[in-house]
Amino acid sequence: MLDTIIAGLKLKNPLILASGILDEVGSTMSEIAVQAGALVTKSVGKEAREGYGNPAVVPLEHGILNAVGLANPGIENYAEEIKEAKKGGAPVIGSVFSSDFEGFGYLAGKMEEYGADAVELNLSCPHVKGYGMEMGSRPEDVKRSVESAVSSVKIPVFAKFTPNTHNISSLAMAAYESNASGVVAINTLKGMAINADAGMPVLANKVGGYSGPAIKPIGLRLVYEIATMFKIEKVKIPIIGVGGITTGTDAIEYMMAGASAVQVGSAFYYRGKDTMELIAGEIENFLKESGYSSVREVIGVALS
Ligand SMILES: Cc1cc2nc3c(=O)[nH]c(=O)nc-3n(C[C@H](O)[C@H](O)[C@H](O)COP(=O)(O)O)c2cc1C
Repeated sequence: MLDTIIAGLKLKNPLILASGILDEVGSTMSEIAVQAGALVTKSVGKEAREGYGNPAVVPLEHGILNAVGLANPGIENYAEEIKEAKKGGAPVIGSVFSSDFEGFGYLAGKMEEYGADAVELNLSCPHVKGYGMEMGSRPEDVKRSVESAVSSVKIPVFAKFTPNTHNISSLAMAAYESNASGVVAINTLKGMAINADAGMPVLANKVGGYSGPAIKPIGLRLVYEIATMFKIEKVKIPIIGVGGITTGTDAIEYMMAGASAVQVGSAFYYRGKDTMELIAGEIENFLKESGYSSVREVIGVALS
């Protein structure tokens, strides 16, 4: 009832662990893999990065603010993590970031060599200067990044977008025209928190990315916008929805807006380590109560 196929990857349910949450090392990934349809790794770059100081992750009233600063061990040190993550049995999608176009090809190639089942290009991290935001908000740059990765690997390549843009449909079209196997929307929104008593920003980096329940309407709207454009242009690649998905109903709403699968991140802060299992159960209940026989039947039902 919950199983599905995304760009040739077989998923036992449409729930994918989002990049950056419980996925820095292989051992936690393989634990989540037992519940999930697939996993995305933490974004990995060419060089190891320590990231920003603490506080780097701050829970707010309606969401989570983070400025982890793309902390990662560097691609040369990541082979073991992929191997370990794969032990959980779910497809592993290697997330990569780069400040230059060629870098995406190199990093994607490494992920494929390590055994990743697909690659996700993080074209969207909003809080590292020179990375993501600048490159990911211009269709021409999306095209060159995707082309670099696609020409370097045989596995599917997904392009993940920032919501901090006015033209997500053009970005999605650029990814499709460069032979991306799917698009992912959305990354975090730019935000900040100020501690009134201390009279200073809460995050060590001052500005960060906002995620969790508060961003669901924004993610939904952007997925709906891409799906509407894909429908008109007869584009068939899958859209993976992400942003604020905490319950089964949230996941269903994203799929009704046109997502073929969804990613879950911040929800783990609210619902604990069994989050995926809980959401999968809620989706199944919804489908049974509403008379659907497969989760695939809900994809795009809210599109006009
Ligand atoms: C602590 C934290 C770290 C993240 N790190 C990454 C990352 O390395 N690469 C990436 O593409 N997205 C990263 N994200 C963004 C998530 O993958 C996701 O797009 C975003 O949080 C929205 O989904 P959510 O509301 O379910 O968390 C991170 C999010 C959080 C909260």
